[in-house]
Amino acid sequence: MKNTYPKPMIIIHWLTFFLVATVYLTGGNPTTTGLLGQIHVIGGISIFILFFIRLSFIFIYNKSIPKNETINQYQKKIFKMVRFTLYLSLCIVPIVGWLALSILTDNFKVLFLNLPLLSSVRDIQYIGELHEFLANTFITIVGLHASAALIHHFIFKDNVLKSMLFKRNK
Ligand code: HEM
Ligand code: HEM
Repeated sequence: MKNTYPKPMIIIHWLTFFLVATVYLTGGNPTTTGLLGQIHVIGGISIFILFFIRLSFIFIYNKSIPKNETINQYQKKIFKMVRFTLYLSLCIVPIVGWLALSILTDNFKVLFLNLPLLSSVRDIQYIGELHEFLANTFITIVGLHASAALIHHFIFKDNVLKSMLFKRNK
């Protein structure tokens, strides 16, 4: 069993991290924020697409995903719950963002192409707030997840963080 994640999974993990940070920082009404709105929507859609590529990699690389040591059963359960919430957010937050955009406009161009939108959700006004709430919850979970990884590295001094980093050739 290898003790680092397969390279394609490491690339997707850190690319997603970069995109989530960018999309979070460019949050706002994309119909009025110009270039920032474009970055927000393109970044959000990329996160959504990467989520499915990531899922397929989990099946492809199933046997070479490291099983990091856990201290006890509770730790294992918490890790699984956090991972599930992260996966769910990577899929749900962009979908709700797309619905929120559908409420704000019926015509949004991404790189000069019309983004298909759903006019039937027009009257559900709270979707924008729901998107914002889910995005903030997602970022909170990411914060807990990143803190746990850093605690593993600096306090428990184990292999957990290293398993998500590229191995340096000695
Ligand atoms: C993981 C991906 C995403 C994250 C973390 C995210 C995060 C956020 C945040 C934090 C806000 C609120 C900003 C503020 O008002 O202070 C926001 C607003 C918004 N986002 Fe996203 N977003 C994501 C993906 C998307 C996507 C894919 C779309 C559209 C296709 C989108 C469309 C919108 C819209 C329309 C608003 C304004 C909602 C309103 O004020 O009614 N977002 N986003
Ligand atoms: C948007 C931000 C992030 C998301 C969505 C995210 C998501 C995930 C997911 C879903 C996994 C499970 C393996 C996989 O499917 O790739 C994972 C593993 C991991 N992540 Fe993150 N992550 C984020 C940011 C971070 C940050 C900032 C750190 C470090 C400071 C980090 C460190 C790790 C480590 C060490 C693992 C391996 C854990 C193990 O197998 O025991 N992640 N991450």
